[in-house]
Amino acid sequence: MAGYAQETSGLLQIPHAEIEKRIFQHKLFGLDSLQEQLFRFCKAVITADGSRVQDFIFYDLVPSILLYGSPNTGKTTLCHLLFDRLKKEVTNDVNFYTIDIGNMLDPALGQSSRNLEQAFEDLRKVCSNGSSAFLVLDELDSFCMSRSRTQEHDAIRRAMTTLILELDRLHPSSTRKLVLFGITNVHNLIDTAVVRRFSLKHGSPGIVVGEVY
Ligand SMILES: Nc1ncnc2c1ncn2[C@@H]1O[C@H](COP(=O)(O)OP(=O)(O)OP(=O)(O)O)[C@@H](O)[C@H]1O
Ligand SMILES: [Mg+2]
Repeated sequence: MAGYAQETSGLLQIPHAEIEKRIFQHKLFGLDSLQEQLFRFCKAVITADGSRVQDFIFYDLVPSILLYGSPNTGKTTLCHLLFDRLKKEVTNDVNFYTIDIGNMLDPALGQSSRNLEQAFEDLRKVCSNGSSAFLVLDELDSFCMSRSRTQEHDAIRRAMTTLILELDRLHPSSTRKLVLFGITNVHNLIDTAVVRRFSLKHGSPGIVVGEVY
């Protein structure tokens, strides 16, 4: 991750050229229909005009997708491929962001939460200028483990609460052009309050695909 401009909040923009390098000559086997479905979903969000926003109200969806599955089943690659296709086929004015969770989490009480808030604030600013943001939160489990796991540090729990609030603010009528992907290997350990806030939930092949809860 080093080498890119990084906000103190942990927000990191990865240039398209870097994503292209990562997926050079990569294809995912068996994920065509999921890829197509998610592409259409992302496209609807980032090209949202008044009528498309109506669509989202109709479906009661927000632009958030949870990808879960065993390691090496193509979750990260799928996000890279989707972004590349959006950039090439829909608009050049979309950028790839991720949050460096190690940097975002801060032992000082409340700081992780503020960092996450700041990251979303920065993204909203980007979107208010008319650009689109494709945000990937990888290793979601690092701060979204179930609340019943009492050993969780308070700072981490606060960050999770902030994420929940931010997920609630994602409605396309308010933040039209931000698509958020959450990724995890251990979806069954993630707090249900977080899981249920993702509109779409998809498991990678090789594991049971279906609704999480
Ligand atoms: N369905 C697939 N078809 C072709 N290659 C695949 C497939 N699934 C995974 N791979 C390959 O496996 C490698 C790892 O994929 P990727 O990093 O996207 O997995 P991941 O699910 O994000 O793993 P992790 O959970 O460990 O982060 C990549 O080189 C990717 O191309
Ligand atoms: Mg990955």
